[in-house]
Amino acid sequence: MLLKRLKGWELPERAVTSESVFHNRRALLKGLAAGPMILSATALAGCSDEASAEADAAKQLAAVPPDPSSHLYPVKRNPAYADGGPNRPITDPDYATSYNNFYEFGSHKDISRAAQALKIRPWTVTLDGDVAKPKTIDIDDLLDQMPLEERVYRHRCVEAWSMVVPWSGFPLSALVKLAEPLSSAKYIRMETFMDPETAKGQKQHWYPWPYIEGLTIEEAMNDLAFIATGIYGKPMPRQNGAPLRLAVPWKYGFKSTKSIVRFTFTSERPVSFWEELQDSEYGFWANVNPEVPHARWSQASERPLGGGNDRIPTLLYNGYAEQVAGLYKGMEGERLFT
Ligand code: MTE
Repeated sequence: MLLKRLKGWELPERAVTSESVFHNRRALLKGLAAGPMILSATALAGCSDEASAEADAAKQLAAVPPDPSSHLYPVKRNPAYADGGPNRPITDPDYATSYNNFYEFGSHKDISRAAQALKIRPWTVTLDGDVAKPKTIDIDDLLDQMPLEERVYRHRCVEAWSMVVPWSGFPLSALVKLAEPLSSAKYIRMETFMDPETAKGQKQHWYPWPYIEGLTIEEAMNDLAFIATGIYGKPMPRQNGAPLRLAVPWKYGFKSTKSIVRFTFTSERPVSFWEELQDSEYGFWANVNPEVPHARWSQASERPLGGGNDRIPTLLYNGYAEQVAGLYKGMEGERLFT
């Protein structure tokens, strides 16, 4: 495969839009965080260039159709996942909904505006491959069938920033049960939508679109593996992966694939998007480990979003070892932490 220099993750930290830039635009970002709404002209007043850019953004937001699942939220918080742990407060939603990785909409953090173009209805989810009977389900029918709950999870990006967010959604195990996999199914391959006209990043032909991720069936059945359909008590904003995304908090964030359209049950280990692009740096397992550095930077500590440049130590399996370490017994020869 032809490998062009990676964007985004190859950039030094200083080249990535800083948190302060986002912070200074809180009024606008609040609009994006809340989902489609019309921002008032007074809320957008500023210097003239900014005012006209923000007026354009306001027009764009006004055109975004509302999320038809709004009535389902908020949902009850699961007491087993009630908070982010000691000294890990919930991240300000302005940060979590504006400092994003979603390469379909650009290889930088500031994609929240572009992502408003994502059409989230109609949206179907296909369950196929090694299953009793392939199914394609409308997202609203799926949401009606699934046991929705809220869970506060830590999220650790491979780039060494992190956040703590209340996801709404359902355990991935419930979807696996619905799919009725055959005994030959050892893995689940998850596929993101493909629509280069809407998601202009998908026109960047050096990336192996669509975005693919994978888990073993055992990982998918672990209680922590979650399909998130909302955040902060509201439907999932487009920039965070509406209408449904994965949340596997013991793994680096790139495993938590967004805007999924297909779950394929298979006997073959899926090759994921970043693995296909650069397998020396991004592997299949991608479990968080502070002692195994990335090829180009340390993973020993992380920068919580909203905390300026303050860093905190990174924990093995992002602090979820008790729940997941058993999944990897006897696999010492594998690249579990890349
Ligand atoms: N899923 C898709 N389809 N495309 C992406 O670019 N980025 C991943 C992951 N899921 C990505 C994706 C990475 S690197 C991270 S850290 C998280 O999404 C970021 O999720 P957030 O923007 O909600 O914080």
